[in-house]
Amino acid sequence: MPNNYKQLIENNKSWAKKKKEYSPGYFDNLKLRQEPHFLYIGCSDSRMPLDTFTQTEPGELFVHRNIANQVSITDINFLSVLDYAVNVLRVKHIIVCGHYGCGGVTAAYHGLARGLVGNWISPIRDIAREHKEELEAIQDEEKRLNRLSELNVLKQVGNLCKTHVIQQAVAEGRIDFQIHAWMLDLSNGLIMELEYENTQQKTSLTTK
Ligand code: CO
Repeated sequence: MPNNYKQLIENNKSWAKKKKEYSPGYFDNLKLRQEPHFLYIGCSDSRMPLDTFTQTEPGELFVHRNIANQVSITDINFLSVLDYAVNVLRVKHIIVCGHYGCGGVTAAYHGLARGLVGNWISPIRDIAREHKEELEAIQDEEKRLNRLSELNVLKQVGNLCKTHVIQQAVAEGRIDFQIHAWMLDLSNGLIMELEYENTQQKTSLTTK
């Protein structure tokens, strides 16, 4: 694992050289525009570069990441990314992707995070409270935290549907995108699609 930043620069040079050799027009095309079909909302965790797991290239994923993949309807950073993705880029899919073994979820569950991080992940404590019975019935702690990570993704999908950007798209009948709830299992590198409750609004977002 590189710990010298110069190694990263060297890696970059050799990557760019290989790309150009393999496809001479690659960077000419890349610099012209971006037309991604996917908005990826994920955890900041260094193990969560979805492009690697899905073999997608630069230009294919529009990305917003934060600790524990929160969809905060008061986060101007997130909301502007969503606005741009839906209203300008016109992405076809919005993916909220969590992961098992999420440190943010674990810290929230155990009340370990302090300061700004504690503040940021406090909504996950509310999710744990809302699903106390289900979670407490799971004996194995790892499995319980994994379920909480799933519930967190589902909650964030619900938050996404409540945003002005999505509500407006629904009101104007511009539902040309789907919303997906995913979990990444770092123990095998595989993506799992989560089912979520089909309220009328969500159904209209997922049946096209
Ligand atoms: Co995480």
